[in-house]
Amino acid sequence: MRLVIQELSQMTGVAAVIVAAGKGTRAGGDRPKQFRPIGGESPLRRALSMFADHAEVGLVQPVIRKEDADVYREQTVRLDLLPAVFGGATRQCSVRAGLEALGPRKPDIVLVHDAARPFASAALVTRAIAAGRRSGAAIPALAVTDTVKIVDGEGVVGATLDRNTLRLVQTPQAFAYPALLEAHRRAAAAQRVDFSDDAALAEWAGLKVSVFAGEPGNIKITEDGDFARAEAVAFAALGDIRTGSGIDVHAFGPGDHVTLGGLRIAHDRALIGHSDADVALHALTDAILGALAEGDIGAHFPPGDPQWRNASSDRFLAFAVERVKARGGRIAHLDLTLVCETPRIGPQREAMRGRIAALAGIATERVAVKATTSEKLGFTGRGEGIAAYATATVRLPWSAA
Ligand code: CTP
Ligand code: MG
Repeated sequence: MRLVIQELSQMTGVAAVIVAAGKGTRAGGDRPKQFRPIGGESPLRRALSMFADHAEVGLVQPVIRKEDADVYREQTVRLDLLPAVFGGATRQCSVRAGLEALGPRKPDIVLVHDAARPFASAALVTRAIAAGRRSGAAIPALAVTDTVKIVDGEGVVGATLDRNTLRLVQTPQAFAYPALLEAHRRAAAAQRVDFSDDAALAEWAGLKVSVFAGEPGNIKITEDGDFARAEAVAFAALGDIRTGSGIDVHAFGPGDHVTLGGLRIAHDRALIGHSDADVALHALTDAILGALAEGDIGAHFPPGDPQWRNASSDRFLAFAVERVKARGGRIAHLDLTLVCETPRIGPQREAMRGRIAALAGIATERVAVKATTSEKLGFTGRGEGIAAYATATVRLPWSAA
């Protein structure tokens, strides 16, 4: 179904230009604001992935600064985007660079969006496309609820405006592509290069611009203080917090190494199992599946199935991580405890944390690895095998269920 819609949208040509070529001077920080993570993900990646995943958007054209090419590459792994183009000295120049790059694709509708607005929803994009198709130039707007006054340089009020006629304007703004491209070329030729949004440029070019309903949550990151607000929005959006636990046991047999937490550790025995018998990754996989209430490792990877024979357990963990992503969630934390007399886990702890973090796609600080013996009691105490206990904390978007 999605494929059909996508093919259809490519035929009818909806493209999105995402401008991220600013320096973020007002926000400060060690890198431009669009690259600074909010709730673990940068505004740029949030904006790009929303457009790239939108069923009605066929093409996503990012615009960046040359100096940011490396961080851009790091932050856009596995997103379906057109190759980024370089922007210019003003936002308007950057938008134009994106529009010109789309030329050979001939979209009929183009959406222009600021990477500095990370929380625009898919529903807003759907509204933008519909409004753009209807009127050829449409922008998302919010009513003004505060009273607005004109104040002079001395701080003296000159007039009170009628707020009923005022709107706060956001992006994405939607236009008929040929008309917006033409307007941008005319503005550049007239040496007008500093329109603060595309609607202002379109108005100057004589296009009739209409409004549709914006979104209060579609905030723009401008000052450093906006990051705290944005963190709160990101936090609240993934407020459905789930915990899952997982346990696994494997017996020792003959061999010269064990696979534990994705690491190969030299040992005088091996762990016996259908796959590589990595008890740590099996327990972690079950903990994540438990947090999602999506069955267990055996249900997804039946032990009798020959295709999982000697399989690397990385694949099981990757599957559970992918399920979290598919639900729109994130792994907040993984906690693993290994119970064994040998091998000694302490010397491997940091490497194991790093490996698990890499497999789960989270920071090492979000992975705990602990180990204990069982004081020579029970099967672990007798050195017959290793037990692993794991807890996963997963954040999901709120849903009706
Ligand atoms: N932008 C751009 N090219 C520019 C200037 C801005 O692509 N030459 C982009 C920004 O990256 C941002 C959007 O336009 O996504 C809105 O601009 P703004 O909020 O002003 O961002 P900056 O220009 O980066 O910030 P500042 O004005 O504080 O330097
Ligand atoms: Mg700016």
